[in-house]
Amino acid sequence: MKFPYFYQQMLGFLSVIIMLLTISVVSIVLFARNTAIKGTENRLFAYAESIVDVNLESNQLSHFQSLLGNQGVTFFVFDSNGDLVFPKLSENIETRVVPEEEDRLRDGERVSLTTEQADLYGNPRDTAYIYLPYFTSSAGDYAGFVAVSAPVSQIERQMSDLKRNLFNAFLISTIIAIIMSFVFARYQVKRVNGLRQAAHMVAEGNYDIRIKHKDRDEIDNLSQDFNKMIYALDMSRQEVERQEERRKTFMQDAAHEMRTPLTTINGLLEGLEYDVIPESQRLRSIQLMRKETKRMIRLVNENLDYENIRANRIILNKHILPVSEILDEIKEQMANIAESSNNKLKIDSLENLTVYADYDRFKQILVNLIKNAIQFTDDGLIEVSGMKTETGTKIIIKDNGIGMTEDQIKNIWDRYYKADISRTNTKYGESGLGLSIVQQLAEMHKAKLEVESEPEKGTTFTIEFPDSKD
Ligand SMILES: Nc1ncnc2c1ncn2[C@@H]1O[C@H](COP(=O)(O)OP(=O)(O)OP(=O)(O)O)[C@@H](O)[C@H]1O
Ligand SMILES: [Mg+2]
Repeated sequence: MKFPYFYQQMLGFLSVIIMLLTISVVSIVLFARNTAIKGTENRLFAYAESIVDVNLESNQLSHFQSLLGNQGVTFFVFDSNGDLVFPKLSENIETRVVPEEEDRLRDGERVSLTTEQADLYGNPRDTAYIYLPYFTSSAGDYAGFVAVSAPVSQIERQMSDLKRNLFNAFLISTIIAIIMSFVFARYQVKRVNGLRQAAHMVAEGNYDIRIKHKDRDEIDNLSQDFNKMIYALDMSRQEVERQEERRKTFMQDAAHEMRTPLTTINGLLEGLEYDVIPESQRLRSIQLMRKETKRMIRLVNENLDYENIRANRIILNKHILPVSEILDEIKEQMANIAESSNNKLKIDSLENLTVYADYDRFKQILVNLIKNAIQFTDDGLIEVSGMKTETGTKIIIKDNGIGMTEDQIKNIWDRYYKADISRTNTKYGESGLGLSIVQQLAEMHKAKLEVESEPEKGTTFTIEFPDSKD
């Protein structure tokens, strides 16, 4: 069943307001009626006291009777047996006494009974009754009681006036309440609809939309979070688009890259098949084929590695590792490429320096950083140094190669990014995946990775591995 938010709000506001109004009206009417009746009863008790005060002298009582009769007040005096003493009534009129109350009167208690029953003559009307006991002046024994009654129709009249006025007030308040609820509900619903529309627009791909909000209530907080969410969505959308763009370029590059070695390999294989390659060239051809295949395998592996790291499929096996030994191994591996670009690779003596990391991944990080340094430097110097810090181990890879601009630095961690696309394969990196892998691995090690670079001056990568074993 559909029950729009607007009606829910209206109903909520209205039910609270109407309930409060109803409670107030009922309490006011009850309170006013009770106060009025109490007032009448007090008046009747005062009359009864005056009647007792005159010692129940007959002519005084007759005087009272005519005096009070004018005000519609009737009184009767009974003796201790409950027999009527005053006034003397003709035989055919029967007085009605209330025997249940007599015990209370004997105890000296005042009794007030205001009920919708017949008066002492038996006439049906709204009447206030009170009974006041009196006692012998000598011994103080119970001597009887005075019953006084007066109509309360006056009060009922006042009450119906009051009820009418209150009902009018109730009607006016209800109308005002409806208008106010309508305005409030509309205001709230408008805000919710604003959010809805914004969500709709985001769903349609408009990420520029922002909801205006102050800092007043939950809907404002929701709007604020909503804006943050759109921003985050926009950022990740842009990132996905950027990656997709680079992936496309990479696929084109890769197709291009692979076509050449595959054609080379195919040509060489054909030559071997038809025996057109001279014996002396055979080994060289096979070596060339191996080199090309190796390069293609590396390209594929790097892509797979990145995906594995991203999907959390890599488990680190951390140990305390000797940095200097690992760097020696890397130096040996890199000697060739360093030499081919006339670079000198200088590694500080880092005896006794240790790092807490996964052996393979630590090596992979350093290989990538050192290989980059060599690849983007000509006739230069690549220096690798390291040191213990307060919380871990820092490794610094510094080159004096081509360097990077600030804009380039921002992007180097992205997949498939190459600062200069004209630098295709071979010498200048291959897939543009190296640093994004390094960054993921550093993150897994909780290591801090930083870069400083200046075009034509050189680049320094710093990575600090924490010591903690958590
Ligand atoms: N030491 C450096 N000096 C100058 N530019 C660098 C350096 N290291 C990285 N870069 C820039 O950052 C880009 C990204 O580096 P990354 O290692 O991710 O990719 P790549 O070296 O091009 O390819 P891959 O490492 O996958 O073979 C490089 O193409 C280069 O433009
Ligand atoms: Mg690289």
